[in-house]
Amino acid sequence: MDKIVSLCRRRGFVFPSSEIYGGLGSTYDYGHYGVLLKNNIKARWFEAMIFERDDIVALDSAVILHPRVWEASGHVEGFSDPLVDCRTCKLRFRADKLEDSQCGRKPSKRPGEFKECDLTEPRQFNLMFETTVGPVQEAGSKAFLRPETAQGIFINFKNVLQIARRRPPFGIAQVGKSFRNEITPGNFLFRVREFEQMEMEFFVPPAEAEQWYRYWIEQRLDWYLRYGVRRSRLRVREHGSEERSHYSRGTSDIEYLYPIGWSELEGVANRGDFDLKRHTEFSTTKLEYVGPDGERYVPHVIEPAVSLERIIVAVLADAYDEEVVGERERTVLRFHPQIAPVTAAILPLIAKDEGMVSTARRLYEELRKRHAVEYDDNGAIGRRYRRQDEIGTPWAFTIDEQTLADDTVTIRDRDSLAQERLPIGGVRERLGELLEQDWQTPKPD
Ligand code: GAP
Repeated sequence: MDKIVSLCRRRGFVFPSSEIYGGLGSTYDYGHYGVLLKNNIKARWFEAMIFERDDIVALDSAVILHPRVWEASGHVEGFSDPLVDCRTCKLRFRADKLEDSQCGRKPSKRPGEFKECDLTEPRQFNLMFETTVGPVQEAGSKAFLRPETAQGIFINFKNVLQIARRRPPFGIAQVGKSFRNEITPGNFLFRVREFEQMEMEFFVPPAEAEQWYRYWIEQRLDWYLRYGVRRSRLRVREHGSEERSHYSRGTSDIEYLYPIGWSELEGVANRGDFDLKRHTEFSTTKLEYVGPDGERYVPHVIEPAVSLERIIVAVLADAYDEEVVGERERTVLRFHPQIAPVTAAILPLIAKDEGMVSTARRLYEELRKRHAVEYDDNGAIGRRYRRQDEIGTPWAFTIDEQTLADDTVTIRDRDSLAQERLPIGGVRERLGELLEQDWQTPKPD
């Protein structure tokens, strides 16, 4: 994990937030390559959810919703973790995770095990961030930052049903920021207080719920495999009844073998009719499906939910590689080409050679219309290759003396390091073909 964090910082993927003010624990800002990586992952998710199917529509609901939403959803009452304070070291711990925590005074011990530890009794701590709506802080102005995007979908169920004229089974997909005042954030982006969720609520006839629940576990697992995550690093773990959330009739975690061990990457839940029934009760607006023949029922909901942060840590861990080439060590991020922040680099061999520079710029101008490409003439060619390897660029096109003589360029493959020449006029088509090809990581599964 340390190596990944340091690479992310060195290459401008992710920075600790508010650093010039001393930082704000476990909050991060995304730099240029982090934003590109995140956007690509989001785009692949949207493709799989919306563009490759006919039965899911998109939504972008507000972050601050009517406070009653969170009463109906059960978050006001139940979205809390048990917390204990240590009066000696002033640290706070999750009472149910003391086994995994370190004493503030003696890190080799668990909280409560060291003679100076003085823990309070556990008390419930609600994870929702509170805010105030309007200029006056008064009763009735209290609101919450959403802790999940799902509720924005449920309260729009009727709009979508009527306006998009959908009938179950159909889904509503949404990507957006969620906020949780986590007691113990940490492990880089894995557990943060502000994160971007990608959630899809799939509304189905009640009798079909179990079948769709299994279907979505498979679909989501396949999506990770499609984007090159190694099969041996993924597993599905079904929750026991004691572990399930209040709304759940069945939950399975797709887990990834992170550097911290097996942990939840994405959750797939069968939420039953809990949410639509509760919002019907609290809002008095009937949220149900009425068919053309008058049949009516409250659909059940299957929900795949994940954060971009968890996916980013997983794909970084999966892509990170070190190898010795010749005498040199290189660090490389072996991203799937369709999620790599930069698809190809355009490199004039000699930055002072006007012919090479202008040819490279022309190629760059042509390719940038369609692809995320980067022009780089800064430093020795070996250093430029290493830089591109570290940001995970799958291909580099180098313009050299021979290009000026015969209009060919070399293409260098990030993974195999193979180089071959091709006509400069064929580069655009070749890049398109390469992006369409199946890709498998050379890292052992
Ligand atoms: N709507 C259901 C829901 O929010 P969840 O299991 O609490 O369920 C869904 O969260 C996903 O959101 C998780 O599988 C994980 O990918 C991500 N997630 C949850 N809390 C997170 C946090 N503090 N930091 C980063 N990602 C988080």
